[in-house]
Amino acid sequence: MPNELVHRTIPQIVPYLDEQDAAAVLQTLQNNWITEGPQSALFVDALRQLIDVPYGVLAPNGTMALSLGLMALGIGPGDEVLVPDITFAGSATAVLMVGAMPVFVEVEPDTFQIDMDRAAEGLSARTRAIMPVHLYGTACDMEAVDRFARQHGLFVIEDAAQGIGVRHRGKHVGSFGDVGCFSFFADKTITTGEGGFVACRDEALYQRLCLLRNQGRMERGSFVHPAVGFNFRMTDMQAAIGVSQLRKLDDIIGWKQLLWSVYEEGLSDLTEIRVVGAAPHSTHVPFRCVLIAERADELQAFLAEHGVQTRSFFYPLHRQPCFTPENSRTLPARPGASTAYAHADYGFERGLCLPLYPTLGIDNVQYMVRKIRSFYRPATTI
Ligand SMILES: Cc1ncc(COP(=O)(O)O)c(C=O)c1O
Repeated sequence: MPNELVHRTIPQIVPYLDEQDAAAVLQTLQNNWITEGPQSALFVDALRQLIDVPYGVLAPNGTMALSLGLMALGIGPGDEVLVPDITFAGSATAVLMVGAMPVFVEVEPDTFQIDMDRAAEGLSARTRAIMPVHLYGTACDMEAVDRFARQHGLFVIEDAAQGIGVRHRGKHVGSFGDVGCFSFFADKTITTGEGGFVACRDEALYQRLCLLRNQGRMERGSFVHPAVGFNFRMTDMQAAIGVSQLRKLDDIIGWKQLLWSVYEEGLSDLTEIRVVGAAPHSTHVPFRCVLIAERADELQAFLAEHGVQTRSFFYPLHRQPCFTPENSRTLPARPGASTAYAHADYGFERGLCLPLYPTLGIDNVQYMVRKIRSFYRPATTI
């Protein structure tokens, strides 16, 4: 991996784009084929092989990939979808986009993935689907999700926006559910700027995805529309970057794992901190270096003073100003508890995401480790 110069301003994320990515875009421009075409077909094939699914379609971004998947499964007004309380808002707004209602489910306290022991609390007669979100570079417990979905007759829409390269019991995330949705936004493990993908295993569902994403037609160039559909397409420039990025995926994953191990080795003895790692039976393609830290707000301010951009955890969805009782459903607190989402609240109050991206140098990680150590152990010489 290219080594960023050691410097004292470390952004939260720097996308990793190189000459090969630039050449790939230039080639599409020179070929004069900029809408979905040969590069898009190659990108879809490469993604299908990686994720190991028979079918898949591109989408403009991860949020629209989720909406497209929900729509193809027939989820819409009057339906409810179980969504973990800690995730990016896009998981829930994708549900709203198809007219359905997100219902927030508590997360488990070790890895902050959806807590399948608590999912039943969100069920109602209107529940049609569950959306496990593979968060921060590891996987949800997909056996438990699958059991629950079968028991209650629910569809499974995997939000694998952050999950490229992540495997649960050897299987790539996004290949378990009825649909698995990915994002290629600039901060993801591979990026196309904006971009998304819907993986699926069922041919009839694939046909519906194709119709919905392309104005109700299987092909372009015809003005006869057998079904109602929309425009969820990408461009060949973006797909060309995606193909080029996928060629580097193993190196990117290796580098991210190495950076994470430098953080982990440097911080694991601090009792004030827990470095959040992989969930059981899952590999780890760190999305960020996620900490549960005492005095997380103060640590964040301290690191900012020293040129390090961090991010808090995602704001729990049950606390988001945009999600109201009219457009979402929160659960009542359990007897004796002040909130139904104690783990999500705990994660938000103590969670901190440290920079971890392919162009980040080891020296910079060592610098951040030294700064964090000095925050908790001011006497340490740095
Ligand atoms: C967990 C999760 N879901 C959904 C999305 C939405 O993806 P996009 O930004 O490509 O729409 C993101 C993006 O950050 C995400 O992290």
